[in-house]
Amino acid sequence: MRKQIAAANWKMNLTYQQGEKLADDLLASQYELKANHEVVFGAPFPYLTMVADKVKNAEKFSVAAQNCSNKKSGAYTGETSAEMLVSIGVKYVILGHSERREYFNESNQLLAEKINIALENKLTPIFCCGEPLNIREAETQNSFVEVQLRESLFHLSADQLKQIVIAYEPIWAIGTGKTATSAQAQEMHAHLRSVLAAQYGKEVANEISILYGGSVKAANAKEIFGMPDVDGGLVGGASLVAAEFAVIIRSLK
Ligand code: PGA
Repeated sequence: MRKQIAAANWKMNLTYQQGEKLADDLLASQYELKANHEVVFGAPFPYLTMVADKVKNAEKFSVAAQNCSNKKSGAYTGETSAEMLVSIGVKYVILGHSERREYFNESNQLLAEKINIALENKLTPIFCCGEPLNIREAETQNSFVEVQLRESLFHLSADQLKQIVIAYEPIWAIGTGKTATSAQAQEMHAHLRSVLAAQYGKEVANEISILYGGSVKAANAKEIFGMPDVDGGLVGGASLVAAEFAVIIRSLK
């Protein structure tokens, strides 16, 4: 059964103390998590050890970094390697978020390198893809997103691909309060899965979790996560409020 994931992306928000309180509040809440459910806290680098420590004994909770270097180690001032992240108990890394693509010029090729180094270190990538508004308006989003997958992921073997989580995040829906409708999300997720199936076969494609991201909140999570090809969400703004994110966690199907 595919994993259903509620992933929080705290981005560059919260102080250490606020992050601690948020994690504590969420871990103290009650959920009825199923065997295939997982909750992931995507915390800023300085908080990863703290959050990793808190989730260590919480079954089904884990920690994600929001980026990692494409280099293994060495003289790369300011960078953080996949190996470092794994050594402090980090399980996931968010790669290719649209904010990193836009503000830090991350290309599909660079992301392919990051994917490789994450996998070599057994760090699970949450690979983000998604189109900007002008592409959606031109109705060319399917081919746009397909190129992102092709150029960053399709060099992988089927076994490697199965280690990856994909997050579809239409840029026009990120932080805007404008969510894709559940039908729009389903349509794109089904497309992504068909692209994966064409390259790797149906069986492999059916094993990949595809999360939806872009203004997911307590009020819409259940409907979006309920779509057959949506396997949970990657959540920014609403993941910073414990009561909101707790409802989102409870919305996993
Ligand atoms: P949002 O962000 O939920 O605030 O729209 C989602 C994301 O950027 O991952």
